[in-house]
This record gives sequence, structure tokens and C-alpha cells, in this order.
Amino acid sequence: MNRRDLLSLLGLGAASLAATARPSTGAPAGRAPFPPVPTPLPVPSDGLDAAGQRRRYARVELEDRLVLPEGYRAEVLAVWGDPVADGRFGFNNDHLSFLALGPDQALLTVNFEYISPRTWREGYTEAVGEAGGGDLPFEALIEALSPAGGRVDASSLAEDDPLLGQIRRVAAAAMADLGVGVIELEREPEGPWRRRPGIFDRRITGLSGWRDPAGRLGVTGPAAAVFRRCARLGYDDGLGEAIIGSFANCAGGETPWGTVLSAEENVQSQVPEAVHADGSSVAPAARPFAWDGQRLDGLGNPFGLAGNKYGWMVEIDPRRPRAAALKHSWLGRFRHEAVAVKAEAGQPLIVYSGCDRHGGHLYRFVSSGTIIDPADPANSGLFAQGRLEVARFDPPAAGTGGEGRGRWLPLEPSTPVDPLTPAHFARFGLEQAVLLPHSDRRQPGAEAFASEAAVAAYRRRFPSLAELYPGEGEEQMGAILIDAHLAACAAGATPGARPEDTVIDPTSGDLLIAFTAGGGSDDGRADPAIFRGPQGQPTWPYGWIMRLADGGPARGGSFRWRMVATGGAPWQGGLGFSNPDNLAVDRRGHLWMTTDRSTRSADLDLFGNNSCWVLPSRGPSAGEAFCFATGPMECELTGPCFDASESTLFLAVQHPGDDHGSRPSLEAREAQSHRLVDRSGRPFEQLRWVPLGSNWPSGVPGRTPRPGVVAIRRLAGGPLLDG
Ligand code: FEO
Ligand code: CA
Ligand code: CA
Repeated sequence: MNRRDLLSLLGLGAASLAATARPSTGAPAGRAPFPPVPTPLPVPSDGLDAAGQRRRYARVELEDRLVLPEGYRAEVLAVWGDPVADGRFGFNNDHLSFLALGPDQALLTVNFEYISPRTWREGYTEAVGEAGGGDLPFEALIEALSPAGGRVDASSLAEDDPLLGQIRRVAAAAMADLGVGVIELEREPEGPWRRRPGIFDRRITGLSGWRDPAGRLGVTGPAAAVFRRCARLGYDDGLGEAIIGSFANCAGGETPWGTVLSAEENVQSQVPEAVHADGSSVAPAARPFAWDGQRLDGLGNPFGLAGNKYGWMVEIDPRRPRAAALKHSWLGRFRHEAVAVKAEAGQPLIVYSGCDRHGGHLYRFVSSGTIIDPADPANSGLFAQGRLEVARFDPPAAGTGGEGRGRWLPLEPSTPVDPLTPAHFARFGLEQAVLLPHSDRRQPGAEAFASEAAVAAYRRRFPSLAELYPGEGEEQMGAILIDAHLAACAAGATPGARPEDTVIDPTSGDLLIAFTAGGGSDDGRADPAIFRGPQGQPTWPYGWIMRLADGGPARGGSFRWRMVATGGAPWQGGLGFSNPDNLAVDRRGHLWMTTDRSTRSADLDLFGNNSCWVLPSRGPSAGEAFCFATGPMECELTGPCFDASESTLFLAVQHPGDDHGSRPSLEAREAQSHRLVDRSGRPFEQLRWVPLGSNWPSGVPGRTPRPGVVAIRRLAGGPLLDG
């Protein structure tokens, strides 16, 4: 990453660059639009010379609190367990969406992504209360499941089996903490936002509609035809088009007509992901319920949930608490992370989304219909008909300064099968099989192909998606959309570096994408021709931000792309953060970004606690990256969004204490040693003290941490940033 790339991202031209560029190892950075929060490692924007960096960073102590710039204050709006409508504020809040109802009244829509078993169990009774069923049979269930390795296929148990009753109590409690919530906010004029429970408060949980059919979710687009089928290769939940609940709700976005899009991401932890050639699910037994005190998953198993009904983009209208939430199947089923909506009068609706897994793809939906008024709520109807396309990136050609091109591949029956092959990865010294829809089409899920000959034979047998997904009309199209990830692999889409959030830059109309990490796992591997480290490394676990200029909505259209910010240590070519995740752009085009570096990876300890950064687009500090906040221990900051005047930043603190649970005392800490490099390139040692566990937000040793949402303002009021 260099300064030119970053300025390019933020829409500044070469003239601005020439006026402000500095040598990367030279003088300290320009003035920040706020007093930056100290980072645990030297960063280009810390304002210190080399000697100053060695002094400041020789000894560092991390803190179990939300650290903000001087002159800013955070107020807790809601935490896990707070009553919301007929349920409670859920666990591990992620995406936040602010919708103004008036100058001093608003709705905040919140995603609840997953359960951290340790802190959830530790804090459950306190958060939910004895009266609310806070006495769950955690220990009895661990004991009962122990002989079977902590797991059981609950769908095989008789309805009157007491074990099924215990399992359902624990699983239903966890599902009640997932999904989406809407809470009302109010404030005195110019005062801080506070929660005021009201008529718009709402909870959609992982089990909405299980007992009460009126709470079920709906589906639009061709997957409905698959759900309706009587004859199918796999599992039938008996519900037709109706859907129970939503879970694994990670990032999301908003439409210009006031609805919220909520992305179902890692649903494979709760229900089977693999589907048959006709789009039907494998039976719930394939993802058994598991609880051993350390892991809690397979939550769909005791309720017989069909896996093909999860992994979608869900649209919710927070102003209509009784309207059913809709899963829009034209946007495809995969591990949806982010979503970004482009809605311009006279154009089709375009919706971008990414699939967060190693080798996950970037997609766009293009509606058949055209937008007349972007603010018209009837635009939701545009999701009902269109096409899904997936990105194929070409590497930058010589002399382009790192700008590459690409094109959109439609996912439809006539799409040729043309996958990346193992030889592509071998050119970068990587041994990588490619995953494709199983060649025995009676088998669900994927099959790995490790040789060129095997892939060539596959292509001869299945020349197009129509041969992989037999059938007709909506049933065939629905099967492709339900199996979108593997269909995209077959079509030759570029395997990505775990795409997380996407956002439209309002100053350029371009798409910004956080690719959180380049590497591989059993899921697949990022294309090393596209996702390369600063020195061309084929694996780069610290991530990037990409800018993509879309060439228009034409079928199979083209785009241009460029990496514009690189994660990693400054002495390795990064900006000092690791693993960009959520993105937000304020109205001046400044980019806000939160990180999600795994706290279980010692290789990433260097980067300290997860954090929130601002990358200004203009002014004397344009082209730098400044740390705005660092989170409490073992958490991730998520969901950055603003109120209408951009004087308040809303942030979610997700999974505090994820590794060590409650911090028992201030003595619970460990010493770490880090080898750092100062601005002049000289190495030095750091002693770092790291608290173990968290007590956020109470700050009281021994108290269980709770995920929650905060509102951040300046003590003096006014816009969040200077200038
Ligand atoms: Fe739930 Fe990809 O973050
Ligand atoms: Ca995320
Ligand atoms: Ca995350």
C-alpha cells in the first residue's frame, strides 16, 4: 500500500497527491481530524520520529475498555439481555443501521450474529434472570452428551425423550439471542441518544415462527419454487415457502427506501450447508446438536430446520414491525457478509454482496425492473426478478500501476463450466485442489479436484450449469441460486480473500470492499494472482481494502479494480491494522473501518485489540490512517454507522472476553514480547502487558462481559471530525 493508492481510493486526484505526498519513512504524519488513540505498534500516523517511536512503544499495557480519542465519550445504549419487544437484546451484536424518524427520534436495527459459548453460559442467568428461564440445564446436558463426544442428532430422538426437552431448552435460548432486533432511540435536542422502548421495538430470532406461524419469514425469487416442490432429492421440512427464523446475521446495509438488509453469514455452524442438485437440503442429522461446555452449535438440528432456507440476504422494514421479513433468493445463498445497494433513478437496482470464506466470491444482483424513485418503498419489489452475477478478476497488467480489470459472470443455466484449475495455484507454489459441485449428482455438496485431467473430464461431462442443475424454469434457477457458491466455483469466479463489508463511496459511486485475509483453509483459497502481499506474497493474512469501479449494469459487464489499503505492520508494507472488516463512509467521503483480527491467532497478537480507524479523504491528513478507537479485551468492534447529522457514531462491541471469559481480577494478565521496527527501519523489543478476559461494560472484576451497543459523541458536541 502506498499513499497514491490510498488517495486513489478516497477519490483524490494526482494534483492533491503531488501537493501532500511525503516519503514513507520521513517526517511524522499530517494533522489528524481528531486526537488519535495510541496503537500498540508504531504506525505511520503516530506523529513520532524514530527515536520517539522506540521510547513510546518499548513498554505498552493494553486496557479492557473502549478507548476513545480525548474529548469523546461513549454511552451504552443496550446490552445483551435487555428486554426488547417480546424478547431480549441478543448476543454478539454486529451490523447497526440508523433510521431517523424525526430530528430527535430514530430506530436502530441490530444484527445478532452468534453465541460465544463461554461468556454466554457464564452470563446467562445474570443477563436473562431466573424468572426469564435463566436456569438452563447446562451441566446436566454436558453430562448426558459426554459419552457421545458432546453431540447428538436430536432430530432422531422421540418427542417425549427427556433429553430432547433439555436440548431444546438450551438451543431455543441460544436461538432467542440470535437474529435481528429493532430498538427505538430518542434524545433531547442536541443531547445524547438514549433508548426508549416503543411501538417499533421488534425481535426476529433464530426461531421466529417455530411455534407461531404468524412469525415466519417469507422468500422472494426462484428458491420459492424449490421450497414448494413435492418431489425432491433431499429433506422436506413440510413448511413449503415459509421459513422459521434468521440467524448468523453478520453485516448488512440499508436501502434508500428505508429498509434494512441483514446478511446471514456462517449458517453452516447451525444447519447443514450442502444441498442436492435440485437445491433441496440434506437432512438435519448432518449437523447434529453439539454442546460440551466449549462449543455450542447445530442449533437448527433439534427443530428440524432445512439448511437451504439459511444463508440469504434478509430485508426488514423497521417502520413496519408486523411486516414479514423477506429472504431475497435472487441475491444467492452463500455465507453472506456485506451488502451495498446502488439505487439510481432510471437504472436497475444493483446490490453487491460477498461470501466470507477463504475462496468466497463477490456477487452482484441486477434487477430486471428499473428504479423510478429511489426512495419509493415499492422498490422492494425489484428483488423479485433479475439476475445474479459473480466477479472474475484479471490481474493488473504491466504499466497499469496496479489497476486490474474484471467482468461479471451471470449465474444461469447456460453459463459455461470453466473453473480455475490446480495448475493456476501451482504457478505460485501452492498445492490447491478446487472444489466443484459433486460429480455424482445424487451426492450433495462439493467434491475436490486435484488434477488438470480430472477438471478437464468434469468440464466435458458438465459443459454448463444446466447439466449440473437439471430441471426447468424457476426450479432450475432456484437450485443454482441455492447452491450459488459452488455454482460460482464451476463458472470460474475468482476465489476471494474472505470478502467482508462492502460500501458505496458517495463521492465516486465506486464500491469499496474489505477483504479481511488472504490465504486458505478447507473451504478454499484466495486467488494468489489477485490477492498478493506488498512483496507479491501469495498468502497475506492481514487483508486489504479494494476499490472497484463498476462499468454499468449490462449483462456480463466489466469493472476496474485496485487495492487501495493494505493491512499489516508498517515495516512489512501495511498501514498498522490487520484484518479490515466493517466499513462506513461519512458524507465527506472519509472511510471508517473496524478490524476483526482473530484473538486466537498468536501471529496476529502484534496488532493488539481490535480497533476502529478513520482514513480521511481530504484535508492535511488525507492519505493517512488514524486509529479512532480500540476495543475491550478479546472483542471485535462492529457495525459503525452515524446519526443523520454525523455527530454520533454508533458502534457494537462484539464478543468481549471471547477467549478467557470474565476477567477475575486486575492481576489476570500476561506478558508478551514483540519485536517491532521503528520508522527508520531499526528493530527494537517491546514488553506488552495484556489483560486476560474482559469485564466490559461494567469494568467490575469478576463480572461477566456482555456484548452491547454504544453511541459515541464529542463532549463539546458537533461533528465527529474536525475540518
Ligand atoms: Fe461475521 Fe465475516 O464476519
Ligand atoms: Ca464481519
Ligand atoms: Ca467479524
